[in-house]
Amino acid sequence: MNAKECFVGADQLPEQVHLIEDEERGFSGTTIIHSTALGPAAGGCRLWHYDSPAELTADAFRLARTMSYKNALAGLPFGGGVTVLQRPQRDFDRAALFALVGDHVERLDGAYLTLPDVGSDAHDMAVLRTRTRHVAGQAAAPGRIASNPALWTARGVLESIRAAVAVRMGRRSLDGLVVAVQGAGNVGAELCRLLAAEDATILVADMDVSRARAVAAETGARVFPAAAILEADCDVFAPCALGGVLNRNSIARLRARVVAGAANNQLASADDAALLHARDILYAPDLVANAGGMIHLATDHLKEGRSQTEARLRAIPERLRAIFAEAQLRGTGTHAVAEDMARAVISAAQPKRLLMQAA
Ligand code: NAI
Repeated sequence: MNAKECFVGADQLPEQVHLIEDEERGFSGTTIIHSTALGPAAGGCRLWHYDSPAELTADAFRLARTMSYKNALAGLPFGGGVTVLQRPQRDFDRAALFALVGDHVERLDGAYLTLPDVGSDAHDMAVLRTRTRHVAGQAAAPGRIASNPALWTARGVLESIRAAVAVRMGRRSLDGLVVAVQGAGNVGAELCRLLAAEDATILVADMDVSRARAVAAETGARVFPAAAILEADCDVFAPCALGGVLNRNSIARLRARVVAGAANNQLASADDAALLHARDILYAPDLVANAGGMIHLATDHLKEGRSQTEARLRAIPERLRAIFAEAQLRGTGTHAVAEDMARAVISAAQPKRLLMQAA
């Protein structure tokens, strides 16, 4: 994606853009608050190497909007935002970087809540916590359970698979269903464990074959070459590695009838949703299917308890069923329907918020 594509449509314009800079230490990044219509903007703190500032900014714009939509569809009282940091090329003082981010988040005065994302973890969030309370997903404090969003993400993906398979294949049980899992990392491994408990037949692939082997040894999955997992003979393809995996080339090779997985931004472009639809492959939009981890972190932050997390998790397949039904009615792909639904939730909240501010 390039920066120009970020400005298509007014809903893509963010409410706030903030720069993070420490020239002396070589730290740079941005926080983008896309929407606070439903509550404080919540989203991950990503630490990644980008080839240019424009590429970093484009990713941040896209992620911030995705978080608004994801939080809206998950029924969370949060808007969407994100922090994206350029990973320094040389060795760097990690604690100093996250302390800088903590001070920056604190200055936003509660308009933004940050969480772990690609390249950051619970320990980094613990550093942030020393500077601001507007952070979730930090390492366990004495007497608190450590956060494991991957388990909750995997549970949401499993229920998404169940919902999609019921619609597309008319079957309730996952027993004997062939699922190809791309990526045996935090979420992929948990998903394989959950699928094994349902007696599904699992094919698992990872660029790091030792990870796939470890998961296979534990779950009875078959290890598949990473380069061939997309065209595996299976019922469900579950992308749990990187984004952009569904593109013109890969969609033509897919043999699955359902795509449901954890990876963020699975579609390389919006046009690819139409290609999936044309091939009659039912796609569970990632921003709904992978919301379990976010639900867990947000509910934990709000101290609402496990039953609320479970209730919001149960809403994932319900939301998907509504999306599938609407897509069938319209004769379109599911991704556009999910985005429309998210926009409707956000714009319905807008007048209420304006009234509250006026009062
Ligand atoms: P992870 O980094 O633990 O695992 C990703 C795995 O994918 C790694 O083992 C990596 O070697 C493998 N991989 C990378 N490219 C591959 C390829 N082309 N073929 C096969 N394997 C490949 O990441 P994690 O936490 O499991 O997340 C997976 C995806 O789900 C990411 O896209 C992440 O953004 C998304 N996600 C994760 C959530 C969470 O709770 N961890 C929540 C929502 C989304």
